[in-house]
Amino acid sequence: MFKILAKKILASGIKLFEIEAPLVARKALPGQFIVLKIDEYGERIPLTIYEYTRDKGTISIIFQEVGKSTMQLGTLNEGDCLSDIIGPLGCPTKIEKVGRVVTIGGGVGTAVIYPITRSLKEANNRVTSIIGARTRELLILKEEMEKASDELFITTDDGSYGRHGLVTDELKRLIDEGEKIDLIFAIGPVIMMKAVSNLAKQYNLKTMVSLNSIMVDGTGMCGCCRVTVKGRTKFVCVDGPDFEAEGVDFDELMNRQRIYLNEERLSIERYRERECRRNG
Ligand SMILES: Cc1cc2nc3c(=O)[nH]c(=O)nc-3n(C[C@H](O)[C@H](O)[C@H](O)COP(=O)(O)OP(=O)(O)OC[C@H]3O[C@@H](n4cnc5c(N)ncnc54)[C@H](O)[C@@H]3O)c2cc1C
Ligand code: FES
Repeated sequence: MFKILAKKILASGIKLFEIEAPLVARKALPGQFIVLKIDEYGERIPLTIYEYTRDKGTISIIFQEVGKSTMQLGTLNEGDCLSDIIGPLGCPTKIEKVGRVVTIGGGVGTAVIYPITRSLKEANNRVTSIIGARTRELLILKEEMEKASDELFITTDDGSYGRHGLVTDELKRLIDEGEKIDLIFAIGPVIMMKAVSNLAKQYNLKTMVSLNSIMVDGTGMCGCCRVTVKGRTKFVCVDGPDFEAEGVDFDELMNRQRIYLNEERLSIERYRERECRRNG
C-alpha cells in the first residue's frame, strides 16, 4: 500500500499528492511517470512524477480532475493509501547542455514541464519558460517555475493574469526578438503541442513534446498508447513519452484520445449517482 503523506489543492480541480513510494523514488528521473490504481477495482491512471525525494522515499504527483478516476483520486486525503503504483515508467528526458532552451507548459502540462525545466537549468542551459492557462485561477506552479528558469512569461487565454493570449503568441514574440533558440520543449494539451510544433517548424527550431496517449499497462504490452511518428508506429509508454515534435501525427493522437468518450461520460454519470446515494 502507498500512503498519501500530504495533499495540496493547487487550483480548482488540480491537486498535488506526496506519496510514500521508496522503490519508485529510488530510481525516478525527470520525464518519467507512474501508473497507479486507487483500489483493487480501480482504473490504471498514468501520471507524471512531478518530484521525488530519494532520502525520504517519496514521490509527488499533480493531477487534474477530468473524469471518474481522477475525481475519485481527488477525494482521498492524507493518511489514505493507494493499492498499486508501478514505476518509474517511460524513458527519462534527455537532459544535456544545448544553450538556450524555451520550455512551455500549458494547463496541467506545467506539472510535467517543471522537473524538465529545473534539470535543463541545472545542466547550465539558459532557460526561458512560458506557462499558460485558460484563466488566472487555473495557473499552477508560478513560483516554482520562476525559480527553475532564468526568465518566466505567463499567458492567460482571457487576459486575467500575465499577457493576454496563448503560449504560442509569447513564443512567436521571443522568436521575433531574434535571439537564437537551440531547443523548445512543450508540454500541454495536444492541440497546444501541435500549435507550438507548427510554429517552430516555420523557423526550423527543434521541438520536443511529451505525449499523453491513452494507456493501459504502461509497459509496452497492450498497444493502446500507439502513436505515429515519422510514419512509424511508436508506443508512448516505452518509446516515449518524449518525442521530437516534427513527425508526430497529432491529429491521429487527438482522435485516439476521443475513442472512449461515451464510456467516460457514462462512467462519470454512474460515479456521481453512486456518490449522491452514498452522501444521502
Ligand atoms: C504518460 C502520461 C502522463 C500523464 N501525466 C499526467 C499528469 O501529470 N497530470 C495529469 O493531470 N494528467 C496526466 N496524464 C493524463 C491522465 O492520465 C488522464 O487525465 C487520466 O487517466 C484520466 O482518467 P479519468 O478516469 O479521470 O478520466 P476519463 O474520463 O477516463 O478520461 C478523460 C480524458 O483523459 C484521457 N485519458 C483517459 N484515460 C486515460 C489513460 N488511461 N491514459 C491516458 N489518458 C487517459 C482521455 O483523453 C480522456 O478523454 C498523463 C497521461 C499520460 C499518458
Ligand atoms: S500502454 Fe500498453 S503498450 Fe503502452
